[in-house]
Amino acid sequence: MKDISICPSILSANFACLIDDVNRLEKAGVSILHVDVMDGHFVPNISFGVPILSSLSNACDMFMDVHLMITNPIRYVQSFVDAGADSITFHVECDDDADDCIRRIHDLNCKCGIAIKPSTDIDSVLPYINVVDMILVMTVEPGFGGQSFMPDMLEKVRKIRSLNSEINIQVDGGINSKSANRAVDAGANWLVAGSAIFGQKDFDTAVKGLKEFNVI
Ligand code: DX5
Ligand code: ZN
Repeated sequence: MKDISICPSILSANFACLIDDVNRLEKAGVSILHVDVMDGHFVPNISFGVPILSSLSNACDMFMDVHLMITNPIRYVQSFVDAGADSITFHVECDDDADDCIRRIHDLNCKCGIAIKPSTDIDSVLPYINVVDMILVMTVEPGFGGQSFMPDMLEKVRKIRSLNSEINIQVDGGINSKSANRAVDAGANWLVAGSAIFGQKDFDTAVKGLKEFNVI
């Protein structure tokens, strides 16, 4: 089994004390931050963008895992890399050409992920599984934190894992200790969690709870 990484989504954080929370996550042993960027067009919500990423990456040593839920990612890739992105994930459903996005991101020496919404057929990402560094399988409809996990999405995870044992498979949406277990069992190794972490006072306990893979 691949090493399992917890990727806290700062979408659920209290932005008034963001860096304090990030420091507490570092103390809890977390090394990846999941940064959800929403443009109010690709998804019906607006979150934050380059300035927040830039401030955070200057203030901590976390790996910045940027999830772009935006219609035209290619236009902003350079800005996000300049702001400290270590990995950029765009959606296969965006308006830009996927091959162009991947090339542009890799040309900037940044890791590249490709994300798939719940209603999109798995076949749309399969051509890229030997080209990108990560596939993000959305386990909720993108746009908001705090939604319920969609177990049917695990079929996609299983299919991708059966075709590529090395690629990072990220699941995002509704991840708690129970769904984390099911996702890992299906082959996921990067687990995004927003409310399951920021909804708890003690991040140590929250992170440990997501890594107890013994429910199944
Ligand atoms: C949803 C975002 C997720 C979200 C996860 O569009 O991509 O990263 O913040 O939040 P929870 O873990 O609360 O479902
Ligand atoms: Zn996300």
